[in-house]
Amino acid sequence: MAAKKKLKPRQTGTGQDHFGFQPVAEGDRQARVNTVFDSVAAKYDLMNDAMSGGLHRLWKAHLINRLRPGKGMRLLDLAGGTGDIAFRFLNAVGELEEGAVPVTVCDINPNMLEVGRGRALDKGYLREIEWLTGNAEDLPLKDETFDAVTIAFGIRNVTNLEKAIKEAHRVLKPGGRYLVMEFSSGQAPLIRDVYDWYSFNVIPKIGKAITGDEAAYEYLVESIRKFPRPKVFAKLMSDAGFVRVAMDQLAGGIVTLYRGWKI
Ligand SMILES: C[S@@+](CC[C@H](N)C(=O)[O-])C[C@H]1O[C@@H](n2cnc3c(N)ncnc32)[C@H](O)[C@@H]1O
Repeated sequence: MAAKKKLKPRQTGTGQDHFGFQPVAEGDRQARVNTVFDSVAAKYDLMNDAMSGGLHRLWKAHLINRLRPGKGMRLLDLAGGTGDIAFRFLNAVGELEEGAVPVTVCDINPNMLEVGRGRALDKGYLREIEWLTGNAEDLPLKDETFDAVTIAFGIRNVTNLEKAIKEAHRVLKPGGRYLVMEFSSGQAPLIRDVYDWYSFNVIPKIGKAITGDEAAYEYLVESIRKFPRPKVFAKLMSDAGFVRVAMDQLAGGIVTLYRGWKI
């Protein structure tokens, strides 16, 4: 068997970047990412269930367990897309104070947010969520506003990781928590081989069948391989000022939940 070529993770903030495996100028990357989510927004949730066999629900449930939502908590869910984390948060909080808007969902893509708004109406969440179009690297939000900031399967899509982590730190209140859930590719060799085979051979085909866009899901699997290793990402969080940074590895290391506190 031919030796596998070692992939170098992307480094951000250098002027050059990658869109999946393709080298691109840093300034061009976000537009390419936005095109992916424009294309898949309408079928995004169906595709999540299909490609993960429903597992993404368990992973998101783990994030919510770690978050321990409580009455009075204000959450910012970044790259919140179609609202999964916000809905789970609201379900966990239960009864709210009259007129409370405990969740802000912020995403750069208005089409993803539009699908989220529709889902919120279906679930009877009419006023509990603020839907905000914005870039995680440059948030249109005041300092020290939120008790918790989450970003699930979103940070991989951001161009400048350092900027995005610093922004999350800025908008958190002292004592607030930052939870980042992201795919990772640092698993045990056997799991990695199966996962690689499934990712490169099956996921883009499911993507094509459901969304009509095979390339969007090639980007997904490639961008996971270009994302920094868990220890490297955890260090970026510490460098941005987060303390007690810890990680939970799920599904044999296919998914990592990073956790840190602002003091
Ligand atoms: C894979 S989806 C995750 C959606 C949701 N968090 C979930 O777990 O189902 C990634 C989201 O990141 C958003 N995104 C990409 N770049 C972004 C940026 N720079 N700032 C904010 N959101 C971004 C996309 O528009 C998309 O909605």
